[in-house]
Amino acid sequence: MIFAVILAGGTGSRMGSTDMPKQFLEIKGRPVLNHTVEKFLPNPKFEKIIVLSPKAWIGHTKEIIRKYTGTSDRIAVIEGGSTRNETIMNAVAYIDEHYGLDDDTVIVTHDSVRPFVTHRIIEENIDAALKYGACDTVIPATDTIVEGCDDKITSIPDRRRMYQGQTPQSFKAKLLRDTYLSLSDEERDILTDAAKILVIKGMDVRLVQGETFNIKITYPYDLRIARSLLEDEEAK
Ligand code: CTP
Repeated sequence: MIFAVILAGGTGSRMGSTDMPKQFLEIKGRPVLNHTVEKFLPNPKFEKIIVLSPKAWIGHTKEIIRKYTGTSDRIAVIEGGSTRNETIMNAVAYIDEHYGLDDDTVIVTHDSVRPFVTHRIIEENIDAALKYGACDTVIPATDTIVEGCDDKITSIPDRRRMYQGQTPQSFKAKLLRDTYLSLSDEERDILTDAAKILVIKGMDVRLVQGETFNIKITYPYDLRIARSLLEDEEAK
């Protein structure tokens, strides 16, 4: 079975002082979260679309889904975790409890604040996760990446081998959970995303080509970009 895991468990601190986490802010009259969920809902391969929200926002999440997207028994709203990876683990526990996990259970994990993901990216994630066990969506780095420490450059890696990570990141759920559980506290502390759970254990994660417009809404500036991208999308 294949599940969409929509990560909406964060507080959006870099967005600054708004009265709600960024996934609930509106672009063109509808919350960002709804735009994102609606990229997954039409795909019949998903058994369930699991939306993970902060505990205090679960009621609100259910309400906006009912109001703007419509009631669907293919959408479940559950509580997120204290970190992004703990949020993913809550989704895996939900799947285990309700469906059981087998070796081919796949999760397509996606930031709720990336509403411009495409059908092609989702399909390529599903195919790569089924075939290889894990994949990450990336675009080639356009800027030169400079590594630094204490105000000094420590290295300038070859840009041809540098990518910017996006989402979805998709995995065989059992492989991801079992590897996560095998990590030491120190290893968990250096995790920045879910792909790294496998990478630090030397496992293969395939690359799926993303899109430059598959942006993550992080700062207020990104909301302005998102509004104009949505206008472009609607004009098509
Ligand atoms: N996320 C999550 N659970 C967490 C933390 C983050 O589901 N405990 C989700 C966010 O809701 C977001 C995605 O992961 O959709 C990407 O993370 P990021 O942009 O860092 O979101 P926030 O943690 O909310 O933002 P900030 O770092 O600015 O506080």
